[in-house]
Amino acid sequence: MTPTAQSAAALFERLTGSAPERIWSAPGRANLIGEHTDYNEGFVLPFAIEHRTYAAVGRRSDGIIRVVSTFDPNPVEVAIVELQALFGGDAGEGVRSGSVPEWAAYPLGVAWAALAADGQGATQIPGVDIAIASDVPIGAGLSSSAAIEGATAGALDDLWGLGLTPLDMAKIGRTAENQAVGAPTGIMDQVASIMGQTDAATFLDCRTLETQAVDLGFAREHLALLVIDTQVSHSHSTGGYRDRREACERGAAALGVPALRDLTVGDLDRARAVLDEVTFRRVAHIVTENQRVLDTVEALRAEGPRAIGGLLVASHVSMRDDFEISVPELDTAVESALEAGAVGARMTGGGFGGAAIALVDEARLEQTREAVADAFARAGFRAPNQFTVVPSHGVLRDA
Ligand code: GLA
Repeated sequence: MTPTAQSAAALFERLTGSAPERIWSAPGRANLIGEHTDYNEGFVLPFAIEHRTYAAVGRRSDGIIRVVSTFDPNPVEVAIVELQALFGGDAGEGVRSGSVPEWAAYPLGVAWAALAADGQGATQIPGVDIAIASDVPIGAGLSSSAAIEGATAGALDDLWGLGLTPLDMAKIGRTAENQAVGAPTGIMDQVASIMGQTDAATFLDCRTLETQAVDLGFAREHLALLVIDTQVSHSHSTGGYRDRREACERGAAALGVPALRDLTVGDLDRARAVLDEVTFRRVAHIVTENQRVLDTVEALRAEGPRAIGGLLVASHVSMRDDFEISVPELDTAVESALEAGAVGARMTGGGFGGAAIALVDEARLEQTREAVADAFARAGFRAPNQFTVVPSHGVLRDA
């Protein structure tokens, strides 16, 4: 058992006085390419990372669900029959009313969405204690939230005998995030976390929800994937993320398509003529980003990871200039990593803070880290948190 799995088990024992029945875990993710394309029914290419969230769980004899985590000393307790009232109404009602803290809305929201999807009466379901510990950095854009959702979904599927498929679990995670937490996100993070495979990225068509594992070959090519966490915090339940999603929906409606997925680069001239300047740039990012995902998959398959650097950089430029979701710290991370010789680099995740990724020759890793740290110091930014990640496996039962 990893130290984090042990701390989940220890937390469970402190809460209940006995050992957990099961421990399940799910990873965070980094997105290689395909940003904000998921809710436009487009393409994404994320991979699960080795940082994981563990849920130690056990049944109770009553109908109570109780969650505790290492990031909050106070357990949160809700009757299973109350979940519908808490989360079934307007998005994020339980969170907004302050009746549950935001972190607890992830596991509780998963329980609610799993039961709603199953159609079983909440009254027949045994109560459960859930203790959560995580080594996924929070607020770094590495989907610590999807990791909680995945670990909880796996554990509840097991304890409650729900018979969920991996894709069911991903949908349940997204429903929890959209409805219980009130963040209008797509399904990329949940699929990446739940269905991740060692050494591979998950190529996901967000319309059909078909997935293919794409070999990354980083180790074979002696490449490391460096995460540069700017420590600029972001939230997707407020502000910019929602605004960008609305701009995409407006653009699709004005162009008469169900989703921006239905446009190609060849449609951009028409889009420019029809849309206002800002909406056009939002649309241009999505349309070109979808193409870059397809090109990246092809390049990886035909030539390997050294061939994708230009696509990663073009993706960053598009997010910086057209989608306008980068921040100076992310631009500095990308530029300084490239100056130090990175194969490619881009911000990853929803933007407005969080982390950048850089694909770096193993031999140049230390000098790249130093160059990035120096660039941050020169700009007067808080020192970034830098670490490497390896493509890892998805949700699983640990004990
Ligand atoms: C966040 C969301 C995802 C996706 C990305 C941007 O991580 O949770 O659904 O939209 O932002 O690509």
